[in-house]
Amino acid sequence: NPIDPHILIIYGASGDLAQRKLIPAVFDLYRGGYLPEKFALLGASRTDYTDEAFREKVLFENEFMQGNGYDEDQLKAFSELLFYQDLKAYDGVEDAKKLKAKLEDLGEQFETGSNYIFYLSTPPKLYSSIPKALAEVGLNKPENGWSRLVVEKPFGYDEKSAKQLNEELQSVFRENDIYRIDHYLGKETVQNLLVTRFANGFFEPLWNRNYIQSVQITAAETVGVGSRGGYYDESGALRDMIQNHLLQVLAHVAMEPPIRADAYSIRGEKMKLFQSLRAITGEQVAQQVVRAQYDAGDTKDGHVEGYREAEGVPDDSMTETYVAMKFFIDNWRWAGVPFFIRTGKCLPLKVTEVVITFKNPPQALFSGYDDYALKCDNQLIMRIQPDEGMALEFGMKVPGEGFRVKNVDMDFFYRDLTTKDVPESYSRLLLDCMKGDPTLYARGDSVEQAWAFVDPILQAWEKNEAPLARYTAGTWGPEEADRLWDGITGASWRNPA
Ligand code: BG6
Repeated sequence: NPIDPHILIIYGASGDLAQRKLIPAVFDLYRGGYLPEKFALLGASRTDYTDEAFREKVLFENEFMQGNGYDEDQLKAFSELLFYQDLKAYDGVEDAKKLKAKLEDLGEQFETGSNYIFYLSTPPKLYSSIPKALAEVGLNKPENGWSRLVVEKPFGYDEKSAKQLNEELQSVFRENDIYRIDHYLGKETVQNLLVTRFANGFFEPLWNRNYIQSVQITAAETVGVGSRGGYYDESGALRDMIQNHLLQVLAHVAMEPPIRADAYSIRGEKMKLFQSLRAITGEQVAQQVVRAQYDAGDTKDGHVEGYREAEGVPDDSMTETYVAMKFFIDNWRWAGVPFFIRTGKCLPLKVTEVVITFKNPPQALFSGYDDYALKCDNQLIMRIQPDEGMALEFGMKVPGEGFRVKNVDMDFFYRDLTTKDVPESYSRLLLDCMKGDPTLYARGDSVEQAWAFVDPILQAWEKNEAPLARYTAGTWGPEEADRLWDGITGASWRNPA
C-alpha cells in the first residue's frame, strides 16, 4: 500500500513512551525508507519547548536514540521534520485551535495536505476529551483529507468504562479510524502464529479437541514493578497483561481460519473467539484463577524488595503481580480442551511462549517411555520471545537393539529467516496505521468482550472471594498454580530453562 503524505501528531511527546518507543520507531521507519516523502511530525505536550529544544530532547539527548549507532547526518536530516506545539490544557479548545493553525502551516510547508494521525500517549483520563477537542475544531474530519486516532493502553478499566470510552470516541471518529494499540500484535512472532496455522496444511487437521490435550500460554518477566508502582497498583497483572496482550495471543492460537487475511475477517474471527470464552464467575474464580503477589527474593537481576515495599505501592496492597488461570472455550473446535494462561513479575526468566500439548497415541507400543500414561510427549512450543521460534517435541527410536523411545526436539529459530533486523513492534504498528490498515489493532467490540471475560474475576477479587497467594521473587510463582492442572493427566506448566 502506498502511504499518503501526512502529519503525525504525538500528544504527550515529552513523556516516557514517546522517548522510549515512539520517536525511535518513527526514526527507524525514516531510515528504512518507509515514510512518505511528504511527512512531518508534530510533538504536543504541556512543556514549553521550541522546535529546536524539542529536537534536542527527543533525538540528540534521548538515551533511547543514543547508543544505537545512528548516523549523525541522517539524524540531523530527520530532525528537520520534527516540530513542537505547547499546550495549556491537552483537551482545551483554544489549544486545539492553535494546533490546527500549526498543522495548516506545516501542511503547506511540507505539502502533506490535511492528513493526520493523532497519537494519544497521555494519561488515559484524556483519551476521550482530546478527541472531543479535536472535533470541536474539525480536525476529526478534515476537508480533503483523513484523520486517524491512535489510543494507547489501558483501554478502559473494566467493561463499563471501555464501553463508555468506545462510545465517546466513536461519536467523533469512525471506528475504522480508531487504532487501539496493543504492542503484542506488533510482535513478528505473534503474527507468525497465524502464518504457522494457516499457511501449513498439516497443522490444521490436528488443531482441535480431537488431537490437542491442552494449550498453555506463559508470559514471564524477571523485572518487578520498579518505579511504576503508582500505575501498576491500580492495574495488576490481569488488567496489565491478560485482558489485552495475552488474550490477543490466545486469539491467534485459537480463532477459526479467517476467510481473508484482512482486518475485517481477522478481527471478526477474534471477536467470535472472545465471545466463546466460558465465563468464570463466583466460586469458580477461586478454583480456576490463582492470583499472587511477590515477596522479597533474589532474581536474575539481583535482590528485589517485596511488592508492597515498592515505591507507590500501599503496605496492604492486594494487587496481583502474578495470575495463573484455567478456562475453556465453548465452540466446536475447542470443546473440552483446557486452556491455561499465566503471567507474572519477578519470575526466573523473561519468556513468552505458547505450548500446544498433543494427546498420546492410543497405546504405548514401545518401552522406554517415562510414565507413558502420565505424560504427553508431543508438544509444539511456539516461542514468542526471546529466542523467537518454534520447537516440536516427539519420540524417536533410541539407536540399538529393541524399540526404545526417546523424546527429541526439532528446533527452528526465527532469526535464521532473515539477516535484517526484525522490525520493532511500534515501527510495524505505526506503519500499518500510516497505511490505513487496522488489522493489527484491537477492534472496539472485541476489547469490550475481552473485558467482559475478566470483569467477573476482578469483581470476585474485589470482594475478596479468592485468596491472594504469595511467592518469592525469582521463583516460578505460587504452588497453588500447579493445582490448576489437577485431574489433567499428561501435562503441567512448562517452565523453560
Ligand atoms: C506492558 C505492560 O504493556 O507490557 C508491562 O504494561 C509489561 O507491565 C510489558 O512489562 C511487557 O511487554 P514485553 O514486550 O516486554 O513483553
